[in-house]
Amino acid sequence: MAFSKFLRFFVCGDKKDVGDLPPPTPIEFAIEGKNPEKSNDSFDSEPEFAKDDEEKTPLKVDVKPIRKNRVLVVASKGTYGFSEEPFPEFAHDKEVVISNHATGLNPIDYKSVDYNFCLPEFPWVTGREMAGVVEAVGSAVTDVKVGDHVWTSTYYRDRRAGCFQQYVTVPAHTVLPLPSNLSFDHAACLGVAGLTAAMTLWRWLEVPITPQPSSSEAEYLLLWGGSTVTGQFAIQIATRCGLKVIAVTSSKTQFLAQSLGAHHVVARDGKTEAEIVAEIRSIAGDNIIKAIDLVGTKTANFCMEAMSTSKQGIFAPLAMISSKAMIPTNIRAEAVEMKQFVLNEESRMYALELNRLVEMGAIKLPDIHVLEGGLAVVTDGLERLKGGDMAGKKMVVKMV
Ligand SMILES: NC(=O)c1ccc[n+]([C@@H]2O[C@H](COP(=O)([O-])OP(=O)(O)OC[C@H]3O[C@@H](n4cnc5c(N)ncnc54)[C@H](OP(=O)(O)O)[C@@H]3O)[C@@H](O)[C@H]2O)c1
Repeated sequence: MAFSKFLRFFVCGDKKDVGDLPPPTPIEFAIEGKNPEKSNDSFDSEPEFAKDDEEKTPLKVDVKPIRKNRVLVVASKGTYGFSEEPFPEFAHDKEVVISNHATGLNPIDYKSVDYNFCLPEFPWVTGREMAGVVEAVGSAVTDVKVGDHVWTSTYYRDRRAGCFQQYVTVPAHTVLPLPSNLSFDHAACLGVAGLTAAMTLWRWLEVPITPQPSSSEAEYLLLWGGSTVTGQFAIQIATRCGLKVIAVTSSKTQFLAQSLGAHHVVARDGKTEAEIVAEIRSIAGDNIIKAIDLVGTKTANFCMEAMSTSKQGIFAPLAMISSKAMIPTNIRAEAVEMKQFVLNEESRMYALELNRLVEMGAIKLPDIHVLEGGLAVVTDGLERLKGGDMAGKKMVVKMV
């Protein structure tokens, strides 16, 4: 797939020119007030010629620019373009339009375009997390107002909610206040990595949301990919909730996982997965009852090998699992569906609790790598993300 295959879609330069956004499209104006072209006043019947000796009253006009929405679209399979679209309309009265100040980039953003999934039609808009300022609220929205600083996490099925656009439209229950200690750039990584870690643990892995005293019997959580951005949130939430965490990382990010609270870090460099499993078992014995894989189908299988063979366990393969994977009978593999945050209003409680922990400084956010340049640099950022080697950093695009 070539990201360089940029399509000229409405307003679209070649890749070198995209830094010139916003496109030089003239802004249209709506003129309210006395407007001769639209007025019912008749020039024929009642001419209004000012006499020379009369004081001339300036024509009062209220000029409001018609707001447009700049959008990065997936124009067709594997190709991007830019378009300028009308300001979004509400689908119902409990929606919120947010002006995009920062958006986080995630592996799913390029995977869905490369492998052509989660794209209901073309042109579509991707991007799943952002932070910004509330621009408009529906008539039934009570706890969010215009001007609020907020973050959100979105569901790909609504084109208006794709975060690679200037104005993002979402249901009110998915809009969270920006923690007072965070910038828009930092808050832009709460919607996917932060919320996924929180919901995976609290909802799908059934970890109690309130901190528990460490049980005398050790209960371990295995995080394969402990230095991923999602893993960094998961280490902190899980240890706070009383689990002992074993993280698998490279030696480069080993210290990062330790500093966030992982009890044991297994550096994977130069080791086979079988050797890593043996090392994990030598630490935890048969006590790994929860596991999250953040790497891929192969490591998903090795996670299950490391898990307890005698106790009931729950496993969340966040980075995919083969349909042919052999799941032991004592292990329940959970399909984590982050769309539940949008479809189920009760899921707001997980975001509120995540917000509370961030606000009180109980969760350290990942270091961020901020790309300046707005929509024009999103695809470059995705290419860099695909290249890997972010060493635990989160890529965020500054939009304004
Ligand atoms: N289902 C969902 O809703 C959902 C939500 C969020 C994320 N995910 C998935 O979860 C995965 C992680 O996402 P993310 O955004 O958190 O990732 P990320 O931060 O972009 O992950 C990059 C990190 O992965 C680590 N890594 C690479 N290969 C590894 C290996 N073999 N073993 C252990 N660590 C390895 C690297 O650190 P080191 O090399 O230093 O270890 C690298 O820093 C992705 O596959 C993503 O699609 C799914």
